[in-house]
Formats: sequence, C-alpha cells, structure tokens
Amino acid sequence: MACPFNQTAELNPGLLPLDWLLGTWESDEPGEGCFPSIKPFRYTETLHFTHVGQPVINFMFSAFHSETKKPLHRECGFIRMQPGTNRVAFIIAQNSGLVEIEEGDLTAQQLNLQSQAVARTSFAREPHVQQISRVLQLRPDGRLEQTVSMATDSQPLMQHLHITYRRS
Ligand code: HEM
Repeated sequence: MACPFNQTAELNPGLLPLDWLLGTWESDEPGEGCFPSIKPFRYTETLHFTHVGQPVINFMFSAFHSETKKPLHRECGFIRMQPGTNRVAFIIAQNSGLVEIEEGDLTAQQLNLQSQAVARTSFAREPHVQQISRVLQLRPDGRLEQTVSMATDSQPLMQHLHITYRRS
C-alpha cells in the first residue's frame, strides 16, 4: 500500500498568487555584486522554494564563488501572505548572523520588499546592515530576476546584488 505521506501536498490556496516562485532556480549567468566599499564580484546562486501544504513557502538560497564554486552567502526562511491581501512577508536567516523580516506588496509577478526588522549576532562583522530592499520578479521570458540593495552603518541604501535565474 502506498504511504500517504509520500503524496505531494497541494499548494495552500492562499499561496496561489505566489505559485510562480515554486521550484528550483539556477543562476543564468553569474550574478553581479557591488557596493561602494568592496571590490565588485561575480557569483552563482541556486534558489529552492518548496511547501508542505501549509500557508507558508519554505526557501533556501545558496550562493557560490563563480570560479572556485566555494560556498559563500546562504539565506533560508519562510514566506507568508496576509490572507485576502497582496501583502507578503519574508522571514529570513542569513549565514552571516543576520536575521530579518522583509515585507512588501505583490503586483502581478513582482515582489517589492523592504526590511521591517533587522537583527544580528552580538559578534557580527562590521559594517552592520541597517536596511535591505529586494525586488524579485518573473520576467516575460520566464527568467526570475533578483535585485538586492542595502544600507549599512557607513553607506546609504545602494545596490549590492543583481542576478537572473533559469528554472531547473
Ligand atoms: C541580503 C543579502 C545580503 C546582505 C545583507 C549582505 C551584506 C553584506 C555586507 C554588509 C557586506 C560588507 C560591506 C562593506 O564592507 O561595506 C557584504 C560584502 C560582501 N558580500 Fe554580501 N550580503 C548579502 C548577500 C550576498 C550574496 C548573495 C553574495 C554572493 C556571493 C554576497 C557576497 C559578498 C561579498 C563577496 C562581499 C565582499 C567581501 C566580504 O565583505 O565578505 N553577499 N555583504
């Protein structure tokens, strides 16, 4: 007899507006990283968006050095939608010791998120991040695009990352 727990859970109906995110995405070509205080860099990244039938999407982002393939930045967390609205919240933990809540609106297949709360370990490296803004959008060509800006103790809000992904 088939094990009932092996069945794929149906997406919670409250998350249907975000169904375009689900699955695995691989960077198309290396993403570009920059910030006034660092040397520009290139990176690759894999994104996983999954669910288990709860009104929550689980995600894991893993970034690597584009040449050495060494693991670099990682983020994981949960995505929730406020029922009956287009309000979306990302609850995020980063391997650097940063945790944050980002919230914003879903317009068609574009998410515009702003950090609402940022906290870090007592021994996190400086400069400390003060604000993050992130745009995730599904482009007409089927690629996913992510742009992340940040403000730190020493720099105002400026772009840090830009990358596009192909569904794999
Ligand atoms: C929301 C996500 C991210 C935040 C908040 C963040 C934050 C930061 C901060 C605060 C710095 C130091 C800036 C300075 O010294 O003025 C930094 C540098 C850097 N970040 Fe990010 N970062 C994020 C995502 C990523 C990703 C996905 C990569 C991909 C590999 C990455 C790669 C780097 C690199 C290579 C540096 C320069 C070297 C270093 O300081 O380690 N970051 N990031």
